[in-house]
Amino acid sequence: MLDYQAILEEIHESLKKVENTGEVASYIPELANVPKDKFGIHLHLITGENYSVGDASEKLSIQSISKVLSLAKAFQLVGNDLLERVDVEPSGHPFNQLSLLELEDGIPRNPLINSGAIVIADILLSHLKNPKEDFLNFVRELAHDETISYSEKVAESERLTGFNNYAAANLLKAYGNLHNDVEDVLEFYFHQCSIMMDCRQLTNAFFVFANRGKCLKHIQHLTASQVKRINAIMLTCGFYDEAGEFAFEVGLPGKSGVGGGIVALLPHCFTIATWAPALNPKGNSYLGMQALEQFTTKTKLSIF
Ligand code: DON
Repeated sequence: MLDYQAILEEIHESLKKVENTGEVASYIPELANVPKDKFGIHLHLITGENYSVGDASEKLSIQSISKVLSLAKAFQLVGNDLLERVDVEPSGHPFNQLSLLELEDGIPRNPLINSGAIVIADILLSHLKNPKEDFLNFVRELAHDETISYSEKVAESERLTGFNNYAAANLLKAYGNLHNDVEDVLEFYFHQCSIMMDCRQLTNAFFVFANRGKCLKHIQHLTASQVKRINAIMLTCGFYDEAGEFAFEVGLPGKSGVGGGIVALLPHCFTIATWAPALNPKGNSYLGMQALEQFTTKTKLSIF
């Protein structure tokens, strides 16, 4: 039996010593206020054991990690129909890149880049009665945690500087791939990205993807086939133009956010979340990537 607590502590200790050359995201001004030296890891085994180190119980802005949860909700609501409006190919480009969208007639490459997540947000807006409230309840249900909420401050901060997302949404609208108003869709999108969760809550919410669609409380939220597809999209698209590198170094499906969080999972085995706010040049957590590489190397637990 592996000593998971000792492994997490070893990783945390060794990376605390590394010079962190990453930068905290500043294009959303509110995120720039987060101290660069925060660093936490939480591991949740499918058998129920939990292991934690560092700042794993401090809340972070989940940002793009929310795109996996919105994709899950959209799959639940409309099934494979969503594939008519968004593709499932890696983009090989940064999360906010716009030119592919024009080249490909308003069909985003995948649901985890910004334009794809904006289409998913549009689908949720069309199908949920009270979109913000219903989506938050879905996340709370998955994580079994009523305390999870939006940060109005972060959502507003992103709205005020979200020119790139306005451009993406307007382009989608021009191509007929946005059914609701640009403002309404982005209001929802900025809120989903502003959700605050700690590493433990993230591993709880993502348990459903490691457990064939059943959450912590054994409720079936997604089919096994939907979970297979969501995990495949995380593996191939979860880290944008660094998805190959993450698969190569870590070997797990996962998703990053510009708040410095990463969640990854090994189906039928565990979910793991890291938080270290300073990002590498590709927009993924500098220490989080290394922590997960060390974890799968030390434990020999990866999908490969
Ligand atoms: O739309 C944005 O730019 C942010 N709300 C989310 C971007 C993000 O987290 C990219 N992930 N690494």
